[in-house]
Amino acid sequence: VQKVGLVGWRGMVGSVLMQRMEEERDFDLIQPVFFTTSQKGKAAPQFGGKDCGLLEDAFDLDALKALDIIITCQGGDYTKEVYPKLREAGWNGYWIDAASSLRMADDAIIILDPVNLNVIKDGISNGVKTYVGGNCTVSLMLLAIGGLFEKGLVEWVAPQTYQAASGAGAQNMRELIAQMGAVHGNVQDKLENPASAILDIDRQVAEFIRSDAMPTEQFGVPLAGSLIPYIDSQLASGQSREEWKAQVEANKIMGRSDQQIPIDGLCVRVGAMRCHSQALTIKLNKDLPLAEIEAIIAGHNDWVKVIPNERDASMKELTPAKVTGTLSIPVGRIRKLNMGPEYISAFTVGDQLLWGAAEPLRRMLRILLA
Ligand code: HSE
Repeated sequence: VQKVGLVGWRGMVGSVLMQRMEEERDFDLIQPVFFTTSQKGKAAPQFGGKDCGLLEDAFDLDALKALDIIITCQGGDYTKEVYPKLREAGWNGYWIDAASSLRMADDAIIILDPVNLNVIKDGISNGVKTYVGGNCTVSLMLLAIGGLFEKGLVEWVAPQTYQAASGAGAQNMRELIAQMGAVHGNVQDKLENPASAILDIDRQVAEFIRSDAMPTEQFGVPLAGSLIPYIDSQLASGQSREEWKAQVEANKIMGRSDQQIPIDGLCVRVGAMRCHSQALTIKLNKDLPLAEIEAIIAGHNDWVKVIPNERDASMKELTPAKVTGTLSIPVGRIRKLNMGPEYISAFTVGDQLLWGAAEPLRRMLRILLA
C-alpha cells in the first residue's frame, strides 16, 4: 500500500479534495499521512473512517521523504520552499500539486486526464514525477470544448471569463456575501416601501457601494453590484497573469507547446460564488454543421453536456446557480456568428473548486495507483 502524504487538506481546495476522496473511497486504497504547518502532534483527521495517528510537520523533510506520493493544496509558497529541498535531498516520489508554481516547469506535467491521459501516461513511462493541476479557467474550458481540440478543428479561441469569488480565496467568498448583505441592508427600508422611487434607491446604493462602509478589504473594490475586470497580477504584455495562463497552460496540457493554438481573451471577476463561466468565440478551421459540432463537443468526456441553444434551457441549465457543487460541465449558446461560417460562440460553466482544482488531483492519484 502506497504511503500518501496530504498537505493543505484543511483549506478550501483541500477540504473539497478530502470530500471527493471520501466519496470515491480513495482512502481505502492508500495509507494516508496527514501533515500540518502549525499543529504537529495533534490527532490526524479520520477521513474515510481511517485512524491516521498524529499530524506530522509539513516542513519535516525526513517525514516527507518516507512517502511514495505527496498531494499538496497548501499553496505556492509552501511548494516553493519545500519542493526543491525535497528533490535535492534525493526524494524521487510523486508530487501532486494544486498550486501554480511548478506548472510551467519542463519536468512537470499539467494534469487533466479526460483531456491529456496520453500525456500523463507518457510522462509516467518517461519517469516524470511532478504533476500539477491546471488553472481553473483553463481546465474548465478544455473539459467543455476538448472535443474540438482533439479533432484538430480549432484555429483559435477567445475566452471572455466570468470568474467566481472562490478563485480569489475563502475570505473573498465571505466578503462577496458581506457586500451583498451590506448593500441590501443599506436600502432595505426604502425597498420595502412600494411607493419609494427606484432612482432614489439606486442613487443610495451607488453612494453606498462607493463609500468606506462597503467591505472591500479582500477584493480592494466592490464586487457585489459591480465587477472587476482584472484578475491576478499585471504583465508587460498587457495581459493579466490569468489571461496569460490560458494559452500557455492549455497548449501544455494538450502536449502541443511547440505548436501553440492562440487562446486569448479578457478575464473578469463577477459576483458568483464558486463557478467560473466563460463566453467563448471559437474560430474553427472548417465550416461544419452545428449538429456535428455539438456531437463532437458532447462526445468528448463523461461530464460535458451540450445544452440546446434555447432561452429556457440556457437560463435553467447554464448558470453558476445550477452547476455549483457538481462535476457537470454544461456548454450551450452554441451558434454560428455573423463573422462567417467558421466562427462559433459557446458559453460554459464549471465548478472551479471541483474540476477546476481538487478533482484532477485525486484522479492523478488513482492513475498512479492503477
Ligand atoms: N486564478 C483563479 C481565479 C483561480 O482567480 O479565479 C485559481 O486557478
